[in-house]
Amino acid sequence: MKITIVGTGYVGLVTGTCLADMGNDVICLDKDKEKLKNLEKGIMPIYERGLRDLIERNIREKRLIFTADTKKAIQNSDIIFICVGTPPQKDGSVNMEYIYSVAKSIGKYINSYKVIVDKSTVPVGTAEKVEKIIKEELKKSNKKIDFDVVSNPEFLREGAAIKDFQNPDRVVVGTKTKDEKSIKIMERLYRSTVRVGRPIIFTDRKSAELIKYASNAMLATRISFINQLSQFCDKIGANIKEVSKGMGLDSRIGTRFLQAGSGFGGSCFPKDVSGLAMTLKENNSPNYIFESVIKANEEQKKYVVKRIEEWLGNLKGKTIAVWGLSFKPRTDDVRESPSLSIVNEFLKKGAKLKLFDPEAKENFKKEFPPSDNISYGETSYDVVENADILVILTEWDEFREPDFKKIKKKMNKARLFDARNIYNPEEIKEEGFEYNGVGRR
Ligand code: UDX
Ligand code: UDX
Repeated sequence: MKITIVGTGYVGLVTGTCLADMGNDVICLDKDKEKLKNLEKGIMPIYERGLRDLIERNIREKRLIFTADTKKAIQNSDIIFICVGTPPQKDGSVNMEYIYSVAKSIGKYINSYKVIVDKSTVPVGTAEKVEKIIKEELKKSNKKIDFDVVSNPEFLREGAAIKDFQNPDRVVVGTKTKDEKSIKIMERLYRSTVRVGRPIIFTDRKSAELIKYASNAMLATRISFINQLSQFCDKIGANIKEVSKGMGLDSRIGTRFLQAGSGFGGSCFPKDVSGLAMTLKENNSPNYIFESVIKANEEQKKYVVKRIEEWLGNLKGKTIAVWGLSFKPRTDDVRESPSLSIVNEFLKKGAKLKLFDPEAKENFKKEFPPSDNISYGETSYDVVENADILVILTEWDEFREPDFKKIKKKMNKARLFDARNIYNPEEIKEEGFEYNGVGRR
């Protein structure tokens, strides 16, 4: 099928490339010409394992092209995916300007029947607004052209986005009515994905939009739930990892997304939970569960700093080594990463920061450029030199089995704060370290 993807961010790039890899002809449209030039040269705008090879092969086999020509991209395809960013505003509401500007362009250039697909995470009710904007544009140019707007939310995790696209737990499609045309086209589009028995759910557009928000909010709620209990565990000397395990063996609860840590980050959870809370509020619907999820998450980041301050005393002049800056492993993305506010708090308290991350250093430097109090290491061992404490903020695999003897020799004092609970406390203490985790000692 002939497909256009508008917006080549995490979502657009993975969606377009994976659809091309199924044999479809895909045009990726983006306003950022620099990004497009780099993509054609195989320079990736994001770190996503396996994506570069997939892009190169599909460009070579002429199924994937990149362009900034909006008119051509809209007129040459039957399906148009809107994958532009929906960034959060200061008040927690969602910035819809990019979605609406794409809808306007579609209304301006549409030349035949198309299915317009909202792939970006958008507030409930957006499909109707996109439809309205396109209709207004058509009226302006006195064009009578049929089209359908459907909701097809993404459930991609960064660092596993290709796998999540190719093996989704489910595909969700929201259509305006039980109208055949767009349903038949979306069934055909996803039939090679659902061939492996993955269900495709057809529902109305508002329910489809809400399924996305509700799924992310549920996952974020589990994280804030266990994070809040981790603080209680520290008070009473219980072990949060054992609590998670004991809870998770109940098949109705499960163990995933029940790991205490320094809080959730990323371009989705924080934005989606506050977006949902805002939408409920705008519709006079109680939203206190979601507001507390956000509050608990902000508190968890502060809790990590508080625990370290209690341990070290005044942080002024102390050297803090940090391993892990990305919001999660296997990504270079630092958007809303807990490390941003935690590092900021350390700096405000006068500490000297020595930072390392396998992939996210360059993105983190944009927020915290090197200075007298901030340096970045080429390797994880660089940063522990003369450190008063080593703090693990992101659970990268390469941090799991380090040479503790080598680290101990380099540090001023062998202290380790494991904000992602990746180590076995007994083993660390045997290596001669003082150890603290989150919700376990
Ligand atoms: C974003 C949101 O974070 C996510 O919640 C939503 O589901 C999809 O959009 P992401 O892929 O990370 O996900 O977007 P982002 O990294 O912001 O990239 C958006 C791309 O769209 C950028 O490359 C930008 O240049 C492009 N864009 C934006 C356009 O081409 N046209 C526009 O009008 C606006
Ligand atoms: C998430 C959803 O998983 C995905 O389905 C949706 O499409 C986009 O948002 P992503 O934001 O890429 O994906 O990351 P995810 O792996 O979900 O982790 C989100 C945050 O939760 C990370 O900061 C991670 O560190 C944190 N997390 C996750 C925990 O703190 N504890 C956990 O047990 C799991």
